[in-house]
Amino acid sequence: MLFKQQALLRQKLFVLGSLAIGSLLYLVARVGSLDRLQPLCPIDGRFGPRSQDEIPLRALQFKRGLLHEFRKGNATKEQIRLHNLVQQLPKAIIIGVRKGGTRALLEMLNLHPAVVKASQEIHFFDNDENYAKGIEWYRKKMPFSYPHQITIEKSPAYFITEEVPERIYKMNSSIKLLIIVREPTTRAISDYTQVLEGKERKNKTYYKFEKLAIDPNTCEVNTKYKAVRTSIYTKHLERWLKYFPIEQFHIVDGDRLITEPLPELQLVEKFLNLPPRISQYNLYFNATRGFYCLRFNVVFNKCLAGSKGRIHPEVDTSVITKLRKFFHPFNQKFYQITGRTFNWP
Ligand code: A3P
Repeated sequence: MLFKQQALLRQKLFVLGSLAIGSLLYLVARVGSLDRLQPLCPIDGRFGPRSQDEIPLRALQFKRGLLHEFRKGNATKEQIRLHNLVQQLPKAIIIGVRKGGTRALLEMLNLHPAVVKASQEIHFFDNDENYAKGIEWYRKKMPFSYPHQITIEKSPAYFITEEVPERIYKMNSSIKLLIIVREPTTRAISDYTQVLEGKERKNKTYYKFEKLAIDPNTCEVNTKYKAVRTSIYTKHLERWLKYFPIEQFHIVDGDRLITEPLPELQLVEKFLNLPPRISQYNLYFNATRGFYCLRFNVVFNKCLAGSKGRIHPEVDTSVITKLRKFFHPFNQKFYQITGRTFNWP
């Protein structure tokens, strides 16, 4: 009898033990394989310590799940109506600068429970054909969200395209505008690297950066070269200031977002009047990628795609020096206008 009871107990312990080990193995396997999954998952586990300004998390947790379902095309019209889902025009736009870290900024802001990102670059305001389709077309491109959430989109071409400030002003004159900048010469080289990669993929020949950035006739900086022009931040910003006061802009330090993202994100939360909800827990350094990656909870995390963080070609130091000297006065003006100073050479 005693022997039978002991055998039964051993059997039970064995089943329980197997279940526990099985669950643990499943969890480990998921963590290892979900690096690039959509960052939509239970909200509760996605955040560290909470602030007093609570956003209704339980509700959001459920809602985010539903938003995800709808993006996958599984939610019905009835569900959308029942849960009060809407496609809202953006309350904030990351207008640039190309290669400044616009994707990282958008993805990191999307960690906030009150933010919903438009995943694709919509190019509504810079593309005449899209703009001609009207504001309803633009709104329909936005993700589903709850009325208390804010939608953010990013299209870096907005910053440098002539017609865009007036067009955005016509949509919403009080919209918040985010500009992420990097040291101008590094940004120009990053810009070149991206174009170069595209040309190489198509088996096209391309000039060296030095040849494009410096005019061979004058030996001066070639201001006709787009990668150089884009880095003259103050010139572009001045066009925007004809429509929007400087208070409507927030400048993000793209170089610091790479090395120390949290304080930069906290400044953005403040600018957007959002309660501080992104924490160090949500960001972890991935030594293999050489960048910070995003942690949504114990199971879900992701790094940016490999096209972010390319290795730049080596550039002649005299060209770098020339470019830095060229950008210097424009940078000074940029600091003066924005009130944000960088240690750019
Ligand atoms: P490089 O490829 O020159 O390194 P954008 O999204 O505007 O195209 O900017 C791309 C840049 O974002 C990359 O430039 C990279 O340095 C920067 N970046 C910032 N944070 C990053 C992150 N966490 N992961 C990958 N790239 C990041």
